[in-house]
Amino acid sequence: MQLSASRFAHVQRVAKVAVELAHQYGGDVQRADVAGLVHDYAKQRPDAEFKQLIQQEKLDPLLLQANNGIWHGVVGAEIIKRELGIHDAAILNAVRRHTIGDVNMTTLDKIIFIADFIEPGRDFPGVDQARAAAAQSLDAGVSFEVVHTLEFLLSKRARIYPKTIDTYNAWAAKP
Ligand SMILES: [Fe+2]
Ligand SMILES: [Fe+2]
Repeated sequence: MQLSASRFAHVQRVAKVAVELAHQYGGDVQRADVAGLVHDYAKQRPDAEFKQLIQQEKLDPLLLQANNGIWHGVVGAEIIKRELGIHDAAILNAVRRHTIGDVNMTTLDKIIFIADFIEPGRDFPGVDQARAAAAQSLDAGVSFEVVHTLEFLLSKRARIYPKTIDTYNAWAAKP
């Protein structure tokens, strides 16, 4: 794994929380563990590698205007496939969706999305509310996270990847 020590500790915590959520909500425990461990596999790759892959794999051209925060999930799944030989569609989709979410998310998608946000090393204003929402239901956890993330991006006047808006529209009004 090409990850710094701190990021490796993060992915281990994410896998642990993902396994707990899978037990709690009847998810696939083994896939939750693997997806948690690999979700940030591509995080430290150079921008040029992602841009090349977006073109090679004919991914959404709008991705070229995005950044590492989005690429390491959406494009990172391709790198995981190539380098780790993981072809399990459910795991790859959970990695793809772990930063921007999606309009439709499987139980595994939701578990990884939430585990990444609330793992015990996370410390940001709102993390306790995020943990409380996740304890209520997976949907409540996803909804809280989607709204919180968009609010954060807007507060920085960051460029918003269009699919992030679609995710927001699908989830903001859920419980
Ligand atoms: Fe990530
Ligand atoms: Fe992560």
